[in-house]
Amino acid sequence: MRQPRGPQHSDPAGPHLPVLLAEVLEALAPLEGMRVVDGTFGAGGYSRALLEAGAHVVAIDRDPRVVPYADALAAGFPDRFSFVRGTFSALDTLVGETPVDGVVLDIGVSSMQLDEPARGFSFMREGPLDMRMAGEGDSAADLVNGLEESELANLLYAFGEERKSRRIAHTIVAARAAAPITTTTELARLIEKAIGRKPGDAHPATRSFQALRIAVNDELGELVEGLFAAERLLPAGGRLAVVAFHSLEDRIVKRFFEPERGGPAQSRHLPQVVAEARRWVDIAKARKAGAAETERNPRARSAVLRSARRSAEAARPVSRAGLGVPVIGGAA
Ligand SMILES: C[S@@+](CC[C@H](N)C(=O)[O-])C[C@H]1O[C@@H](n2cnc3c(N)ncnc32)[C@H](O)[C@@H]1O
Repeated sequence: MRQPRGPQHSDPAGPHLPVLLAEVLEALAPLEGMRVVDGTFGAGGYSRALLEAGAHVVAIDRDPRVVPYADALAAGFPDRFSFVRGTFSALDTLVGETPVDGVVLDIGVSSMQLDEPARGFSFMREGPLDMRMAGEGDSAADLVNGLEESELANLLYAFGEERKSRRIAHTIVAARAAAPITTTTELARLIEKAIGRKPGDAHPATRSFQALRIAVNDELGELVEGLFAAERLLPAGGRLAVVAFHSLEDRIVKRFFEPERGGPAQSRHLPQVVAEARRWVDIAKARKAGAAETERNPRARSAVLRSARRSAEAARPVSRAGLGVPVIGGAA
């Protein structure tokens, strides 16, 4: 697969390799002359491929560090590419009056974010406990050192699906009484101390780091808002493609496209509720990376692409109901 040209990435792992690229292009096609919003620009792998296929692209990213990658693309495609820094939850307002035919979201962190120790996303690399994609707001250290024990446990459970969340929270709170927890590796060691490590299993800190990252960046709130923003923005026939990297996100995308499948089972004794108008049609089967891609790029292993076309029905008001968004300390 093509690597994005442009600024050099200093990490030995290299810049972000676009995931499920061929499948995303297929889901958005036909591309020639199309106007696409790339809501998660990253290193610009999708944007570049879309431009090379003849599309016009408006790209969005909340991370200021992607600007050099965007500048490099703008130099190559001055008439068909523009970049806006912001969050995709506001993609319809960021794009403004521009008519749009497609939206793509590749949720989650980029390799540049994950591999840079100073960003604090990875438990494998010693760095400050930060995890803020946009460099603003509360950091992971603020949550780890500031939340009550029960709040911390509930957060790890809701956003990391960590069943041993109470034990982890207890160990963290005991450790921080002596001194604040400030680094990624310190937190990873504490989690390992709390719940142990089995050979062959994923690192015991995996779920907790996912939970903290989701909370710090309000990733699930952003996803819900971004999906509804795309629904407002796209005209009938417009295409939306979303790549998710874990089950919490994928469940939201799936239920957003097919709300009738996410609702509570109806009693056969109640009158049938009239079927809701469908905002999304031609909903494609979920697609995953094949063996060749996962071998070349292990980060593609958990990726799931879902896509659909917009119907002519009016957009819905934003609502989390039925999407399965976990609630901290409560039921989804
Ligand atoms: C997985 S990477 C995208 C990689 C990109 N598709 C490529 O081929 O290079 C995700 C990017 O989305 C950005 N991002 C995540 N959540 C966002 C949000 N809510 N709004 C805007 N950008 C976001 C991250 O900063 C990151 O750069």
